[in-house]
Amino acid sequence: MLKYCDIIKEDNSDLRVKCEPVSLPLSKEDEETLLKMNEYLVAGYDEKLVKKYDIRPGVGLAAPQIDVLKRMFVICAFDEEQELYHFGVINPKIISQSVAQTYLPTGEGCLSVDRTVQGLIHRAKKIKVRCHIYDFKEKNVFEAEIKLKDYIAIVFQHEYDHLNGVLFIDHINKNDPFYVPENSTPIKFKVEEEDNDNK
Ligand code: NI
Repeated sequence: MLKYCDIIKEDNSDLRVKCEPVSLPLSKEDEETLLKMNEYLVAGYDEKLVKKYDIRPGVGLAAPQIDVLKRMFVICAFDEEQELYHFGVINPKIISQSVAQTYLPTGEGCLSVDRTVQGLIHRAKKIKVRCHIYDFKEKNVFEAEIKLKDYIAIVFQHEYDHLNGVLFIDHINKNDPFYVPENSTPIKFKVEEEDNDNK
């Protein structure tokens, strides 16, 4: 079982490497890596396991974060409507993206950045991706072209960046960390909105 200490942190130069494509069909070793990353993310949703294994929960984890410098990552995240997106991504290519941008009003976090960083990250609101998907239920790989938007698009672009040695902190405007461009709108979570309505 992966622990939080197994995830390499921002001072490790391996996080700055452009990762190599994964060879397909998937090797046993690469499949093990996906399963290990998945196990960590899934455990992050279980309070007991979080305590037992001292897990810092996350919604995505890229192979370079456990020092495997290959182009794959796992997403296990709920979108604004509480719908679950849970899959492994292999050799992704973002083939198109919207001019419209979006951002998390609270900023982003990363399992490899063990400190609070103030500032906003503006990313494409919609993306179209070509990749291979690893299905954790069926334990199989298939080729796919998928469209993602809003929160899940943010998570995807954050993980995608890791494959190119980029961290979210690189995107924050240094002179004006909370700058919002005209074409960027904030993500709104359904739960948050309901909370606000109750106030
Ligand atoms: Ni990250």
